[in-house]
Amino acid sequence: MSIGNSKLAVIGAGAVGSSVAYAAMLRGTARTIALYDVKKAKVDAEVLDLAHGSPLASGARIIGGDDISCVAGADVVVITAGAAQKPGQTRLDLAGVNVGILRSLMPQLLEQAPDAVYVLVTNPCDVLTVAAQEISGLPRGRVFASGTVLDSSRLRWQIASALEVSPRSVHATIIGEHGDSEFGLWSTATIGQVPLRECHGEHGLIDFTDDVLDELGREVAQAAYTVIKGKGATNLAIGVSAARIAEAVLRDEHAVLPVSTVLEDYKGISGVAMSIPSVVGIRGVVRVLDIPMEDKELARLHASADALRAVQADLGL
Ligand code: 2OP
Repeated sequence: MSIGNSKLAVIGAGAVGSSVAYAAMLRGTARTIALYDVKKAKVDAEVLDLAHGSPLASGARIIGGDDISCVAGADVVVITAGAAQKPGQTRLDLAGVNVGILRSLMPQLLEQAPDAVYVLVTNPCDVLTVAAQEISGLPRGRVFASGTVLDSSRLRWQIASALEVSPRSVHATIIGEHGDSEFGLWSTATIGQVPLRECHGEHGLIDFTDDVLDELGREVAQAAYTVIKGKGATNLAIGVSAARIAEAVLRDEHAVLPVSTVLEDYKGISGVAMSIPSVVGIRGVVRVLDIPMEDKELARLHASADALRAVQADLGL
């Protein structure tokens, strides 16, 4: 594959899938973008609507429909299909139904795109990654979730707004479950070269004390609930996140992104998928970084793994 004939397939033409395809089209993520859904009228309309804008954006070829063969030969497959969180639900509440959907979907996708890198966006994305890896038998690096790429972006935006710096200069990451037990990796966060804990807002109004950081972490974990309450779903920011991840793969960037892969003896954790800053390239996740962590952070990582393990046990994973 070269970038000239790269193909991104998006599974599910709901609010999230359509936003992934839209972001990818605007960003020029892939030469061909295929959108697949079982709901024919809906997916045909989304494909048309996207195609109508393509000449004014990257010019990507937009295809798709309710025939799964539109996915054939994809280099990256982003899975967004499944039940979405409703107000009052947690991501983990969706596990049973969405694992069921994945069990029928995954074999069909593998038939069409046997060499693809698979990116799980459907929630709970960490649990679904474990299921997808088990169902597919693919190497762990080729099946991973968008995880806390979105949450880390939310965090960077919040810190940047408080400090009046560009969010691109905020190097801070949320790790663990993409969900309620996630947490900020404060010990290694920096603004430019300055450790976050030593940064002060303009006129010294903001000090990143432990209390302030705890509150910041809580706000980021609550952010999706806030958006869902207001508009019924989150779709735009996850669309950009998934497109960004697909680019890292298609361009073999070896970019460091907090995606979620099934861990194998990572600081004593195995058998659950969680987000840890990882190197992402053409073969998917090529390396999970060994991040230095304080004892408190390590304890939270293990607590996050325990929360996910409990859900997996209920599902027999
Ligand atoms: C989000 O964090 C709901 O997982 C989705 O926006």
